[in-house]
Amino acid sequence: MSGPNTNYDPVEVAALDPATVDAALEAALAAVAEANSLEQLKALRPAHQGDKSPLALANREIGALPPSAKAEAGKRVGQARGRVSQAFSARQSELEAERDARILIEEAVDVTAPVARRPLGRRHPIELMSQRIADLFVGMGWEVAEGPEVEAEWFNFDALNFDADHPARQMQDTFYVEPADTGLVMRTHTSPVQARAMLERGVPLYIAAIGRVFRTDELDATHMPAFHQVEGLAVDEGITMAHLKGTLDRLATELFGEGVTTRLRPSFFPFTEPSAEMDLRCFVCLGKDPNCRTCKGTGWIEWGGCGMVNRNVLTAVGVDPDRYTGFAFGMGIDRALMFRTGVSDMREMIEGDVRFDAQFGMEI
Ligand code: DAH
Repeated sequence: MSGPNTNYDPVEVAALDPATVDAALEAALAAVAEANSLEQLKALRPAHQGDKSPLALANREIGALPPSAKAEAGKRVGQARGRVSQAFSARQSELEAERDARILIEEAVDVTAPVARRPLGRRHPIELMSQRIADLFVGMGWEVAEGPEVEAEWFNFDALNFDADHPARQMQDTFYVEPADTGLVMRTHTSPVQARAMLERGVPLYIAAIGRVFRTDELDATHMPAFHQVEGLAVDEGITMAHLKGTLDRLATELFGEGVTTRLRPSFFPFTEPSAEMDLRCFVCLGKDPNCRTCKGTGWIEWGGCGMVNRNVLTAVGVDPDRYTGFAFGMGIDRALMFRTGVSDMREMIEGDVRFDAQFGMEI
């Protein structure tokens, strides 16, 4: 016999002993089967698949075998390593699937479960109505004008032709700003914006002024010490009361719908001549119930004042009353909201309850 020495040291290759390889394989499979989490499985890898694991050592020893023994040993070790690696990846897939299923359950959202709703804020119905009114006038080519809520007494009264002893100036109606010599009041109406606008912008002029006004009224179901008005003023050549009536009817239709009926009733205001009040057909009884509590049996509800701008007002702000005429009106916005919604107690409007805003702030 010739050829290389085929003897090899059985001690050195003990790692390749079939029983040893099987034992390493069994140990690896058992450990993998017991791994209950991906972390555990990962922690097992060095011992059973790492460079120093028994099967890796065995694999390294193959090179030392005589050629005749290599094939068998290689097959045995290779198969064992293959099974270990399959076992690891199979268990890995199982554990990943379990984890994914668990996450699906743990993180599932029950879309039918009742949730704690956080109520959304709403714009106040007065604000919405004010905007709607402003939009109407801007759409007719008018401008929006503003004035201060703390107003000069001169603009609030004198420029508007109120006598020095007019009852509206009395303490019981007007909030005066202290000390007494400031000459300032909390504006009692939006009419001072008329005088300001004529001075600032000149004529011809078409303006709507929307804002808060103040009077020393006790707070009750139909009175508030602070409320809202829309003031309108149109000054041009040839303006007549027919323009006034047409404009107010348009405003009433915009706010209350096509079926609304209006009337002008003679009245008095220092800053208009002639003056009128605009009434709306009672929205509760439509004029048919003599005992109606809303209109007190009159069939009509007062909405606001209006008239042809008094010559004295035009003169006070430097407008020639022989060339220009104008109409003006001042309507209550809070009252309009009451008519529109059927809310009978004004106090509900200022309590700040978002449920009121949500219910009545929606445009229908
Ligand atoms: N300023 C009046 C008020 O608050 C309402 C008013 C009446 C305004 C006649 C006007 C007007 O512009 O012409 O009671």
